[in-house]
Amino acid sequence: MERLVIQGGRRLTGSVRSSGAKNAVLKLMAASILANRPCLIRNVPRKITDVEVMIGVLQGLGVKVSWEDPTSLRLDPRGDLGFHAQDELVREMRASFQVIGPLLGRVGRSRIYQPGGCVIGQRPIDLHVKGLSALGAVVNEEHGYIDVHGGRLHGAEIHLDFPSVGATENIMSAAILAEGTTVIRNAAKEPEIIEEQNFYNRLGARIRGAGTDCLRIDGVQELNNREIDYAVIPDRIEVGTFMIAAAITGGDLTVTDVIPEHVEAVSAKLRETGAEVRVDEDSLRVVSAGRPKPTDVTVLPYPGFPSDLQSPMTALLTVADGTSIVTDHVFEARFRYVDELLRMGANVRVEGRSAVIKGIAGLSGAEVVAPDLRAGASLVLAGLAAEGQTVLHGMKHLDRGYERLEEKLREIGADIERHID
Ligand code: EPU
Repeated sequence: MERLVIQGGRRLTGSVRSSGAKNAVLKLMAASILANRPCLIRNVPRKITDVEVMIGVLQGLGVKVSWEDPTSLRLDPRGDLGFHAQDELVREMRASFQVIGPLLGRVGRSRIYQPGGCVIGQRPIDLHVKGLSALGAVVNEEHGYIDVHGGRLHGAEIHLDFPSVGATENIMSAAILAEGTTVIRNAAKEPEIIEEQNFYNRLGARIRGAGTDCLRIDGVQELNNREIDYAVIPDRIEVGTFMIAAAITGGDLTVTDVIPEHVEAVSAKLRETGAEVRVDEDSLRVVSAGRPKPTDVTVLPYPGFPSDLQSPMTALLTVADGTSIVTDHVFEARFRYVDELLRMGANVRVEGRSAVIKGIAGLSGAEVVAPDLRAGASLVLAGLAAEGQTVLHGMKHLDRGYERLEEKLREIGADIERHID
């Protein structure tokens, strides 16, 4: 039984460095399946369990994985690969689903259990299925498995009903070795998609348009034989979490190794709450101006305010000087953590996809449970700001996606300890 024990009320000050982006690294690891030669991925957040799970998934398929140094992962996909990802690992992490596209290109088939991951909505897979089917794959869903048979796929024009990150990624990777051109419209525009485009193009793919809502993939017969060495972007969600941590603790914090434009939506919202956000080339300084002002937040696909920071932002607004409304248009059930904030004295009412937050003067520490990864981060922030002690259970969620969170927070002044029974 692991838990975090936080003594609230300390201002966060100083400087903290961001780790590599979880949601980019996991997809690049999956993408290595398509390579003809070993790939070196740098700036990998080694200590998060999602990376360990993805290593397990890839090893189970036959990819050789080793650490070249503490943050550089070498993936060697040469030799025969399987097509059935290990069920128990897939159940733990939704990103396992992203091996489907690369496996289709490499072995023409993939079998995967309905993926698990954070319970933040229904999370259907219809857009993946429609897109892969349009490329000529045959998708069967039976006994909890998704079986996809490919062969040589063909290009297609695909319009996504919603700019799903995962569907965009699976369709893009399946289209790389397809015959002809694939166009994905209403594609996701997240920075992670740009990372994948860059990574695949280094392997010899011909993809354009990442970062816009229209991706164009010209199918190639085969990829090149170059070994690649790729450093992944900073984790914009971790960066945003620290930025909000500075604001909620009345702090003055510099986050380094940042791509500021990736967190523009967060900077804009924090400024609306009264905090000062100073942007440098690759760092950001957030200086709190005391009690936050209320503001409304609408969560949308990138470049909108990210759903992964909806719960930390809600935590901040619980102590604002007035009423705020936060609406999540990406996931329909991402407010389960609100019950935990209520235990800490917050005044929040959830109505469908929105939370109405009446700011109070201060939270009070309590015993709470993280229902999912980002909700866990939100409760940590609430605990840092609260009066008294907060004990947070459900560490397995936090450990999935935040590297050395309590150590990093301690280095900038938090009183936070992990207790293990
Ligand atoms: N959706 C469908 N049908 C589909 C696919 C998605 O209706 O076939 C819906 C989802 O149910 C959801 C919306 O589309 O309501 C967005 O889902 P999307 O596919 O974009 O999300 P994802 O690929 O499953 C990734 C991140 C999430 C992040 C979202 C949105 C990874 C491994 N996960 O999920 O990150 O919240 O994009 O930005 O990249 C996290 O890191 O904690 C996390 C949950």
